[in-house]
Amino acid sequence: MPLAPTLTIDGPGGSGKGTVGRRVAHELGWHFLDSGALYRLLALAAINHGIELEDVARLAPLATQLDVRFVATGGEEDGIILLENHDVTDAIRTETIGNAASVVASNGVVRAALLDRQRGFCQAPGLVADGRDMGTVVFPRAEVKVFITASAWVRAERRYKQLKEKGLDVNLAAVLADIEARDERDRNRPVAPLVPAADATIIDTSSMSVAQVVHDVLKIVASQVSQR
Ligand code: C5P
Repeated sequence: MPLAPTLTIDGPGGSGKGTVGRRVAHELGWHFLDSGALYRLLALAAINHGIELEDVARLAPLATQLDVRFVATGGEEDGIILLENHDVTDAIRTETIGNAASVVASNGVVRAALLDRQRGFCQAPGLVADGRDMGTVVFPRAEVKVFITASAWVRAERRYKQLKEKGLDVNLAAVLADIEARDERDRNRPVAPLVPAADATIIDTSSMSVAQVVHDVLKIVASQVSQR
């Protein structure tokens, strides 16, 4: 299935996988797929169109037709995300949209509708794919699989800092409660639950710096991709 070497990075929210994935992709000169952004975009589009988050009959076609553009701005930064020609780069990062994304993502029909779009990112010279089911469902034959985790408390602190830096008015206890509720939903859903792939290397980043994790992941890629 993959057309180019693929590194999957799965893990719970706030584990640092997005930051690590972007840096690793930048170092390798590979493409980057932020699959969580797709679920967030779908949730925002549903809200904008007045579609209930559980209304699968309307969500599935919306997912297939979602008018999204990821505009790279260079370097390892996020770039700009356009939904129906509107810049929603910041709008999709709120906790409200994160929770709404987790609700739409719990449906198998919706997930299937986003599969081809995600697989389309797999192009030369390579892909770093970030999400919950990259190594288990979307790219099961990826060359390298990593599962990045950290304690709920550490993840809540990191997310709290990120949101504060964006100027959002947040409260640490509420962020922790959101993270725990989202973990619970993502881990226990019947389709594509958040679990490490059997062949993934698990990295607990609770007491590691981003630079250390990037270094370790690059080492794993170098050893596993060159063996093929
Ligand atoms: O990673 P992020 O927090 O942006 O993801 C938002 C939500 O989208 C997650 O809580 C999860 O429910 C869902 N998601 C998913 N599968 C992915 C990526 C994200 O179910 N591959």
